Amino acid sequence: MQLLENASLQPFNTFGFAVRTRWMVHAADERDVAAALDHAAAHDLPLLLLGGGSNVVLADDWPGLALRIGIPGVEDAGARDGHRELRVGAGENWHRLVLDTLDRGLCGLENLSLIPGNVGAAPIQNIGAYGVELVSVFERLEAIRVSDGHRVEFDRAACEFGYRDSIFKRGARDQYLITRVCLRLPEAPAVNTAYGDIERELAAMGVREPTPRDVSDAVIRLRRAKLPDPAEVGNAGSFFKNPVVPRTHYEDLLGRYPGLVGYDQGKAGFKLAAGWLIDQCGWKGHREGDAGVHPKQALVLVNYGVATGREILDLAGRIQVSVAERFGVDLEIEPRVY
Ligand code: FAD
Ligand code: EPU
Repeated sequence: MQLLENASLQPFNTFGFAVRTRWMVHAADERDVAAALDHAAAHDLPLLLLGGGSNVVLADDWPGLALRIGIPGVEDAGARDGHRELRVGAGENWHRLVLDTLDRGLCGLENLSLIPGNVGAAPIQNIGAYGVELVSVFERLEAIRVSDGHRVEFDRAACEFGYRDSIFKRGARDQYLITRVCLRLPEAPAVNTAYGDIERELAAMGVREPTPRDVSDAVIRLRRAKLPDPAEVGNAGSFFKNPVVPRTHYEDLLGRYPGLVGYDQGKAGFKLAAGWLIDQCGWKGHREGDAGVHPKQALVLVNYGVATGREILDLAGRIQVSVAERFGVDLEIEPRVY
């Protein structure tokens, strides 16, 4: 294990915030992870667990140990009931895994193409896009309990997955370091093209009977057209969750705003498109210094250069106030704020 002192975290968060950490370890395997956890415990250092840094807002310098989890490996754990199980190291890049599964003739991950970050973080917020969430292919995960270094497993029920949510964002927050994730993927090709623009994009591509790879290609095209590439402009994807409101609130808003975008969630109410709400409040394309709201997707806050996490959070706060005043809806921040 190599311990770096006073290291920059700028290359390791996709917002590109120029914060530093007192100590840093790039853990290449489980041994490095164990050694880093021992070191943090022995010196009473607060831990910052990092994968690809694509869903964090680092508002201040980190006073403890930042641990980047690089555990590699995609292991074929066998076939059962027409499905193949893969046991994947937390440090594998998510999108590379999606392409790897397509190469293996497996499906189930194609709608989740091009989501940045690593496999170990995927269960944290039950990543989702284009009508599919991780939960639909998730089997179990392996983790280390930070407090005592014990190895533990979580099955699907234990993870308590929800929309952009899991136990790891609530009761078990910061308590477990995920080392491996096991996925169960169908071997027979099946595609899910029901969501939003996928079918239109496939038609534009001239595809009539889409394969999982076609769906992946369509999702990649859609995402590239809408979302900023963090390599070009700093961001963490959607900055807020899409809020769920009771049916009565939805109907009241719809009466006043016929263009309102909402999705029926049954008894839970209606999920509103936060991007639409923010857009209606006039924030789209807004810029203050280097902090801004993306011109093509109002749900994405961006760092054009030297904005700080605090500036982005200030802007987010003002957006929350204006959406609450106009629509009576509270927006919850999606990435983890440190
Ligand atoms: P990080 O940002 O490094 O970490 C996120 C959180 O997980 C932190 O709290 C961290 O402590 C914790 N964590 C990370 N690894 C581990 C581990 N091994 N064990 C325990 N805790 C860990 N998300 C979606 O769901 N859908 C999208 O469509 C989507 N689109 C995006 C588009 C863009 C352009 C960007 C920048 C982000 C997008 N995101 C999306 C958000 C992000 O890609 C996901 O949340 C992703 O899973 C984060 O992975 P990461 O490795 O970068 O996590
Ligand atoms: N909209 C606007 N103006 C905007 C942005 C959006 O009117 O500026 C409208 C769109 O026209 C559309 C609706 O809002 O009718 C929804 O927009 P979009 O399809 O772009 O999806 P989203 O709800 O904004 C969600 C996820 C994304 C995911 C996409 C595709 C959340 C918080 N965000 O975005 O996830 O990639 O759907 O499935 O659920 C992320 O979590 O980081 C993320 C990028």
